[in-house]
Amino acid sequence: MSNKNAKLVVDKELKIAEIDKRIYGSFIEHLGRAVYNGIYQPGHISADEDGFRKDVMELVKELDVPIIRYPGGNFVSNFYWEDSVGPVLERKKRLELAWRSLETNEVGLNEFAKWSKKVNSEVMMAVNLGTRGIGDACNLLEYCNHESGSYYSDLRIKHGYEKPHNIKTWCLGNEMDGPWQIGHKTAKEYGRLAEETAKAMKLIDPSIELVSCGSSNIAMPTFPEWEATTLDYTYDYVDYISLHQYYGNADNDTADFLALTQDLEEFLHTVIAACDYIKAKKRSKKKLNLSFDEWNVWFHAMQEDSETMEKRPWQIAPHLLEDIYTFEDALLIGLILITFLKHSDRVKMACLAQLVNVIAPIMTDDEGGAWRQSIFYPFMHVSKYGRGVALLPVMTSTKHDTVKHEEVTDVESIAVYNEEKEEVTIFAVNRNTDENVLFEADLRGFEGYRVLEYSIMEHDDMKAYNSLVKETVMPKEKTEYRFEDGYFETSMGKCSWNVIRFGK
Ligand code: AHR
Repeated sequence: MSNKNAKLVVDKELKIAEIDKRIYGSFIEHLGRAVYNGIYQPGHISADEDGFRKDVMELVKELDVPIIRYPGGNFVSNFYWEDSVGPVLERKKRLELAWRSLETNEVGLNEFAKWSKKVNSEVMMAVNLGTRGIGDACNLLEYCNHESGSYYSDLRIKHGYEKPHNIKTWCLGNEMDGPWQIGHKTAKEYGRLAEETAKAMKLIDPSIELVSCGSSNIAMPTFPEWEATTLDYTYDYVDYISLHQYYGNADNDTADFLALTQDLEEFLHTVIAACDYIKAKKRSKKKLNLSFDEWNVWFHAMQEDSETMEKRPWQIAPHLLEDIYTFEDALLIGLILITFLKHSDRVKMACLAQLVNVIAPIMTDDEGGAWRQSIFYPFMHVSKYGRGVALLPVMTSTKHDTVKHEEVTDVESIAVYNEEKEEVTIFAVNRNTDENVLFEADLRGFEGYRVLEYSIMEHDDMKAYNSLVKETVMPKEKTEYRFEDGYFETSMGKCSWNVIRFGK
């Protein structure tokens, strides 16, 4: 009998923040088979009149992704957007340097904007601050957002897009702190360029929101000085700072892998502190928010990818970053989403990187169908039921130590209250790899509520995965629980993802 326990008090008066639905964003980069043979495959049996795969669109809609970052990623730092618009047959075929591929430009920004509408998403556009700069960013914005009557807006109309795309959110470059980035910059170089680009872009369209590049990950040697130095330049002109982080389990230590959200907490605290330091330094009234615009598990296919990139000739849509996700990866995805909800007062956008075929919840077979990876499900659950107000997790949990982490809570949990629908959903992960935990939730403020659904993901095999032909990692219903007088109790299985929905 386990003596492990956790208790969550759910009180609708204790609010963290109204959740910005854009924290359930994602990312499509011109990389591998994300675009070609991913979202777009004319000739495929499920392709629509524009060549977009309907089977993929259906799965994207299941995830209900409100915003999608595009076109990169590392790709954007050598992207010549003009090559991607106008008559398709006249478009240039380019050497794509970030991923050593051939870019045909058959799909460009107009086609992507069209696809996004079909899947009910907005575009988060990134500008090239690697090989290009202020002028090209301005031209692109004018092309996308200006009504008509100027060279670039009229060019868009000539290309068949009468109405402006009205893209609201713009990233000022990508991972400019990274030596791998084409056109990598020092913090001062980036800060000045981003400041001037931001100023000019807001002159064209003051309604846009801008994201200043933060560090590529918490381990960068320039972190967190990069944040402080760059924001010193950009603070007055931007609305968000970006964070990127990928996790892996190269040591094959599940307990330690599932403790990684402790590092994520530290990352978030430090970036928030850097923003607030610059706010104080500038005596500014503006609070800068966070755009966690790349996050996921990424390590499974790395070895294979570096071999392919080194040895093969330049190719169109090579198989790259096609990580096959396991059950334990799905648990970490759930833990990361809970962490974002806990910080929903400052994390206003986040993009699961990426969406299709490339480190993605959705995979396609070139000849066959599309399928859901293990990580699809926790993301879908939180995107679907994590809308409303994030409630402060007044929470106690027994703890354990792992190889690299101390005092790791057995259970991580948070509740989201959807006032309009009169629903409360608890998301919880028991990350103890050995023991079940007695989980109690006190919902006494929610009179007349009953359990609508208790969905879990559990598996005997931490390395279980899905494929086109077999789906073994998926949610199922749990009926072993007690709910009386607003008091919920269950024995939460070791290594489990839990979604408990209450309503009237
Ligand atoms: O998402 C894959 C890559 O990861 C992106 O291109 C880059 O921004 C990050 O390093």
